[in-house]
Amino acid sequence: MKTITTEEQKAQAEFSARLSSLLQDRAPKALVITYGCQQNENDSERIRGMLAAVGYTFTESKEDADLIIYNTCAVREGAEQRVLGNIGALSHEKRRRPNLLIGLCGCMMQQSHMADTIKRKYKHVSLIFGTHALHRLPQLLYEALLEQKAVVDVTDSEGVIAEDIPIYRKGDPKAWVSVMYGCNNFCTYCIVPYVRGRERSRMPEKILEEITQLVAQGVTEVTLLGQNVNAYGKDLDIDVDFAQLLRRVNAIAGLRRIRFMTSHPKDMSPALLCAMADCEKVMPQLHLPFQAGSDAILTAMNRRYTQAQYLDLVRRVREKVPHITLSTDVIVGFPNESEADFEETLHVLKTVRFDTVFSFIYSKRTGTPAAEINDCITDEEKHKRFDRLLALQNQISREINDGCLGASFELLVEGESKTDASMLTGRTPGGKIINFPKTGTIKAGDYVTVTVEHTNTWSLTGKVQ
Ligand code: SAH
Ligand code: SF4
Ligand code: F3S
Repeated sequence: MKTITTEEQKAQAEFSARLSSLLQDRAPKALVITYGCQQNENDSERIRGMLAAVGYTFTESKEDADLIIYNTCAVREGAEQRVLGNIGALSHEKRRRPNLLIGLCGCMMQQSHMADTIKRKYKHVSLIFGTHALHRLPQLLYEALLEQKAVVDVTDSEGVIAEDIPIYRKGDPKAWVSVMYGCNNFCTYCIVPYVRGRERSRMPEKILEEITQLVAQGVTEVTLLGQNVNAYGKDLDIDVDFAQLLRRVNAIAGLRRIRFMTSHPKDMSPALLCAMADCEKVMPQLHLPFQAGSDAILTAMNRRYTQAQYLDLVRRVREKVPHITLSTDVIVGFPNESEADFEETLHVLKTVRFDTVFSFIYSKRTGTPAAEINDCITDEEKHKRFDRLLALQNQISREINDGCLGASFELLVEGESKTDASMLTGRTPGGKIINFPKTGTIKAGDYVTVTVEHTNTWSLTGKVQ
């Protein structure tokens, strides 16, 4: 059974109703802090949706919140350390206000060793739940509010789909829509399949319904999400794949832009490339992680493609969608990666010339096969390589951005620039950020054409035409 049962849905609705009356006169405020990827952001929107339904409003201040929930990420050790540091620091706040409820959820909690550590060492945390228990939040919160002990739900599972959970979105002109959950790929370094369960796709009708509703609320751009989004439909009994889904989303009236992530190279079918080329709303942007350039390392990572296959795929993508913006993820310092292996990674960067590269130093994740490898490469060496990679990519990104000088792009305006209140910010069809001075009545949600007047390594500045 992939979707949750009607009984379970009813039980949660019952807990929601009870919570609503319990909280009726309290005007409770919540703060939900998210780490990790867009899937987690989207889960946080569901958490906020469930909280809003029982009477919570939201605050950005810890001092002001009656409930603080950290939605955590386990993909690298650094992400986990940051959460633990922040949770530790909250013990003062809890001492000051014993009624403050602190919750931890998400990928980090889905690892049993981590949930145990939290229970043992962070006694001020009252609510602990994993990714598979998200839809049970009404019940867990109800129990945590009534009981004085920690409420924990981190049961392991292949994962379920819980439709119809309310989603609280900020009213932005763009929205994330999860189309599938989980991952079956088991790349040897990666914790995601262990904490997110197996691949499971939502029914296309449910996805189309959600996007149609978003459009009715004023959204004009959607990003379809999945850890391996282009494997969409493989687990369903009906005849639908990601290419067909794109075509159906493309037909939604009023929607203007479609993006999607993350795509695995092995699932970039010819049908998908054709759909990308045919659908005018599918933006010329592709995030296509290659992780490593060396075939030996790719095999050790269980990525299921070679460097030559990856480069050929990039060639075919560019043939179908010329001028597509390409980005990628790269891991530096996989166990026993040699200098020659690393140079193959640099070779791919030089050959493809990605617009953006997200690079990470390998982080050992307990429970994954790569964690068992006896690694002879020093941390110092890994950091040196990481810096070399960054220097190379900065130069490439800069050159690509410089090439945009004088060019005009249509932007979807997203709002005020985070760094300069006199500027607005928006994205090009390829997903590049351009800042431009506030002009006339232009506001978030508008589409404007901007000409690039100044370039940086990371951003572009322009002027409205
Ligand atoms: N499903 C996506 C992304 C998963 S996590 C994909 O397959 O590409 C995002 C990125 O984190 C990965 O692409 C990878 O580059 C990086 N990553 C995952 N596990 C890691 C680890 N153990 N150490 C360092 N980086 C890691
Ligand atoms: Fe992790 Fe690989 Fe799945 Fe991406 S495809 S989530 S890197 S196991
Ligand atoms: Fe992190 Fe979980 Fe996403 S481990 S990257 S938040 S799926």
